[in-house]
Amino acid sequence: MPVLVDIGCLYRCLDGGKQSDVHMLENAAVAWEDGIITWVGPQAGLPAQYAGALQHSAGGSPVIPGLVDCHTHLAFGGWRADEFELRSRGATYQEIARAGGGIRSTMRATRAAGEEELAGRAGRFLGRMLDLGVTTVEAKSGYGLTFDGELKLLSVYRRLAEVSPVQLVSTLLGAHVVPPEFEGDRGGYVTMICERMVPAAAQGLASFCDVFVEDGAFTADEARVIFEAGRAYGLRPKLHVDQLTDGAGGLLAAEVGAASADHLEYTSAEGMAAMAEAGVVAVTLPIASLYLRQPPMRARAFLDVGCDVAVATDFNPGSAPSYHLPWAMTLACTMNGMTPHEALKGATAVAARAIGMESVCGSVAVGKRADLVILEAESVNHWLYHAVPNAAQAVFVGGIRMGG
Ligand code: NIG
Ligand code: FE
Repeated sequence: MPVLVDIGCLYRCLDGGKQSDVHMLENAAVAWEDGIITWVGPQAGLPAQYAGALQHSAGGSPVIPGLVDCHTHLAFGGWRADEFELRSRGATYQEIARAGGGIRSTMRATRAAGEEELAGRAGRFLGRMLDLGVTTVEAKSGYGLTFDGELKLLSVYRRLAEVSPVQLVSTLLGAHVVPPEFEGDRGGYVTMICERMVPAAAQGLASFCDVFVEDGAFTADEARVIFEAGRAYGLRPKLHVDQLTDGAGGLLAAEVGAASADHLEYTSAEGMAAMAEAGVVAVTLPIASLYLRQPPMRARAFLDVGCDVAVATDFNPGSAPSYHLPWAMTLACTMNGMTPHEALKGATAVAARAIGMESVCGSVAVGKRADLVILEAESVNHWLYHAVPNAAQAVFVGGIRMGG
């Protein structure tokens, strides 16, 4: 029955309520058993049964729930620093993609890489994310774009889930772009996703099925077909939408009952209202907006119509080559108009909901995993404002202190 005491301010980030409400509790303590939280409250009220418990001290520092990165493309081959330079000279993401670069460039490097190599690399990224306080990560396939290639990426995630302390949630993104083999037969590729990839991914390899709806990727009608197949196999819909153009993605997400719709830089007011009404989580990916020089997603407008906004990195070698979730949270404040408290809830409780993990993590509450981060900062405001390379002094996963 370990206990964490001397918490200067505990940001519990409970489910529900306004996103700005992070449920702060001063001079708090948290107790757990077998990795699950059993008691949370003011330290002065710690029940006698915890008197002789193993004590960890936060030394008066703030404590937050383990962070949840609800949108990454964690496993991939190669990098694309050459495209970063091209974009710095004015080339656009779409121009580079049309010239055979972009997602297809990473597809080639990923196809050439073995499962071992991909797992080793993704595992190292995960270790660094954990150092930053990220204890749950959603990871998408999407760079294999063949039946075997997509399954290879999902198998990498299954292997990592078995060995990493970080909790992984996997998503099938076979519908990232149409691969060259199906250039003249888009319908054939969609059918392959529906009839082969979805049933195989649903055998314990993925929980969600994602589609990139955009010019040069997939249409809303193709997404509907894929989601229907996904639903039959228990894979919930997720969407990459309205990133480069307004593709009415908010309306589509509401129509298909997506768990989340992500990017949303060009979503209309009508789309925002429909998402709020349908309870779809809006995910902002400010690192991608920054790197692609997109207008920022209007998080303030989403929040004002009652749609919760999660914050994630979108970590991938093209549009968002950083796995630094606290940095994405700072950008959510400077670019998207969120407050630091809203960004915190967006990278904990709301992010957990975006990946269906709200009963497991995302809050410091009885019954949830004891995933906790002690911050070396005065407060959450100060943490996201000062933006040091890493403010996580200590990270607990399932009650176990990482790094000894
Ligand atoms: O989320 N928008 C589509 N997919 C990724 C980019 C992937 C890539 O460029 O490799 C994204 O931004
Ligand atoms: Fe993405």
